Amino acid sequence: MLLDTFGRQAVDLRVSLTDRCNLRCTYCMPEEGLQWLGRSDLLTDEEIVRLTSLAVRELGVREVRFTGGEPLLRPGLVGIVAACAELEPRPELSLTTNGVGLARTARALREAGLDRVNVSLDTLDPQTFHTLTRRHRHQDVLDGLAAAEAAGLTPVKLNAVLMRGVNDHEAADLLGWCLEQGYQLRFIEQMPLDAQHGWDRSQMITAEEILERLATRFTLTPEPAAVRGAAPAERWLVDGGPASVGVIASVTRPFCRACDRTRLTADGQVRNCLFATGETDLRTALREGATDAELAALWRAAMWGKKAGAGIDDPQFHQPERPMSAIGG
Ligand code: 5AD
Ligand code: SF4
Repeated sequence: MLLDTFGRQAVDLRVSLTDRCNLRCTYCMPEEGLQWLGRSDLLTDEEIVRLTSLAVRELGVREVRFTGGEPLLRPGLVGIVAACAELEPRPELSLTTNGVGLARTARALREAGLDRVNVSLDTLDPQTFHTLTRRHRHQDVLDGLAAAEAAGLTPVKLNAVLMRGVNDHEAADLLGWCLEQGYQLRFIEQMPLDAQHGWDRSQMITAEEILERLATRFTLTPEPAAVRGAAPAERWLVDGGPASVGVIASVTRPFCRACDRTRLTADGQVRNCLFATGETDLRTALREGATDAELAALWRAAMWGKKAGAGIDDPQFHQPERPMSAIGG
């Protein structure tokens, strides 16, 4: 098991498959992109499957989420999913994607054994989409969402980040649209994880503001905490339910106490927290011929050192060196 000194157990593994992306969300990357990882730095498909398999068979991981960057850019994705779907015990498999290209791949991913997708979409307006992502791909994302639903990658979940003066007036529209389409919407407070270090606390739209904007059109009632479990999203029933909306108050109400995550970067480093300042290098050990038992011991030690909380609201907070796109969402 992956335990830490605060009694938490990590059962949810996020695997980043690439640090590259075909969008340039302003809260994530600069226009010109980043210095991408080199080919030999990236874990191979076989290495990813070996480490994921170890996490599932030996370390108690029950849920595997593939992320990026943009994981659909990874050529071997379908094969990786298929191999992970063979594992015993069978983990839950999901994908966090920007949705571009999902229209083409949804069916193959479903057939390979993917259970669900989380698609990032911050706006219903193609022009605002361009302002936020610097790319004209809004329709591709809508097509990707529809294809995911049709392929049975359900429930289709949507993540939205609100930026002041850009799309924050769309909170209620986004929710209305998701209710119509049958997608589950979650808002995420903008976190200081952008490569450009442009995050500004005073510009962030807080969970409280998000709820205020939603309350102009919907009646929200909190879902009992018991339903929330370790999930970071606090959920509200919309107009009495059964539909609900989530808000991840990652900054103003961090969920560290219930955190059940462990992360593997595309270059084979274990991170015990999105905001961790250190990493544990599994890739070198793996390539030097470490046994499963040795790799498992390294992974356990990495998680044992997990801090109580990230403390973004703490004045002492230091943004991690790697941006979100290199850590995995
Ligand atoms: N703050 C909050 N959410 C972010 N995401 C990417 N960067 C940030 C950030 N700085 C979101 C993406 C995606 C999810 C994985 O994380 O929009 O939905
Ligand atoms: Fe790409 Fe996701 Fe970063 Fe947007 S937030 S640029 S979709 S990695």
